[in-house]
Amino acid sequence: MRGLFASSQRVRDGWRIGLRACGGEELRDSLVGMTGARRTLGVMAVGAAVVGLVAQAIRPSLGRPEGPRVEMAVPPQVREILVRRCYACHSDEPRLVWWDEAAPMYWVVASDVQRARAAVNYSEMGTKPLATQRAVLFESVNQIELGAMPLRIYLLGHPDAEVTAEELATLKKYLAPFATGPASAGAGASESAHEDVTEAAGPSPNGVPFLPGFANWRVISTTDRGDDHTLRMITGNEIAMRAIAAHQLPSWPEGAAFAKSTWQAVDDGHGRLVPGKFLQVEFMEKHRVQYAGTGGWGFARFVGADLKPYGKDAHFENECLGCHEPVRDNDYVFTLPLPRGSER
Ligand code: HEC
Ligand code: HEC
Repeated sequence: MRGLFASSQRVRDGWRIGLRACGGEELRDSLVGMTGARRTLGVMAVGAAVVGLVAQAIRPSLGRPEGPRVEMAVPPQVREILVRRCYACHSDEPRLVWWDEAAPMYWVVASDVQRARAAVNYSEMGTKPLATQRAVLFESVNQIELGAMPLRIYLLGHPDAEVTAEELATLKKYLAPFATGPASAGAGASESAHEDVTEAAGPSPNGVPFLPGFANWRVISTTDRGDDHTLRMITGNEIAMRAIAAHQLPSWPEGAAFAKSTWQAVDDGHGRLVPGKFLQVEFMEKHRVQYAGTGGWGFARFVGADLKPYGKDAHFENECLGCHEPVRDNDYVFTLPLPRGSER
């Protein structure tokens, strides 16, 4: 912390000396008036000022990137938070304060902005499919919760940039429509569905257990499928979330588990789809040896409000595996926390 402030202090002094150096005549007079050590110091100061000024001239460009500019599709209260807290680095219009503008701080900031844009550029996110935009927003909230964003180092120089608890709550509320009471009041059934899904009628025919905690796991993604009028929410357990945070993918660690919950989609009368009747929950739990026959994953599905185990016998799991086979390279998991393009 002290280092950063000290360096911006130094930069500030550099500016002041630089400004004086520009005063030509006056400067020469003051140098002539100096003797010995003082003159050496004076020359060094001018030298430093010149280096400082040259440094200011070396500026990696932060101009507008090439991509088409379409803002992320989110409601105004969500966008406002991103603009206030994240656009400084993750947008086409980086906002720099004066101490960012001065080298060497500028170099640090410019490199951050370039890396940040490469990871996520909210100003261009609108060109991506809605599901991708949602995935990016989930990843964003996870990054905030993990304390990884905004960058720690940046917060030192910009203490007011931290996301407040209230802002985080707003983001989470937008992302987890299933968990909010009033918004889904019109649909009625949803709330009780969310509360009740705690115990299954029995084990899955292949022996994979029901995982009761799934409703409280972290949300990785939600999708609404117009074609079959359902809303889905995919949640991951603690082990899965840690693997995401540690960039361990696509090989998921032992004990990682996902749940995919499906509701009937109901129009709330204001053009918004809200969860209606609870349809089913599906699980995938990683145990390499125990579930070696099905790619190391235990598959299970529990159907309806009474969570009836799905499948006449253990063979039902071939149905699951067969459909997940195309994403074998992703360890059979469809849902990625954030598409990272070239990395996979
Ligand atoms: C000071 C600049 C800066 C600010 C402000 C900032 N970020 Fe970042 N962000 C970065 C950089 C740099 C990276 C790339 C990190 C890397 O390459 O490892 C990044 C990466 C990310 C990623 C991708 C993470 C990954 O592992 O790929 C997400 C998501 C993200 N930021 C979200 C946010 C959110 C949300 C905010 C606002 C609350 C925010 N950032 C504010 C600089 C910033
Ligand atoms: C018709 C193809 C299909 C079948 C059959 C299928 N799945 Fe999936 N599954 C998907 C797709 C596609 C996703 C990605 C999320 C989405 O689009 O809903 C998914 C996602 C999941 C997820 C969330 C993790 C991930 O991979 O994204 C779980 C858990 C899951 N399925 C379990 C099961 C179980 C258990 C069965 C068998 C009872 C099963 N699935 C059968 C297509 C299928």
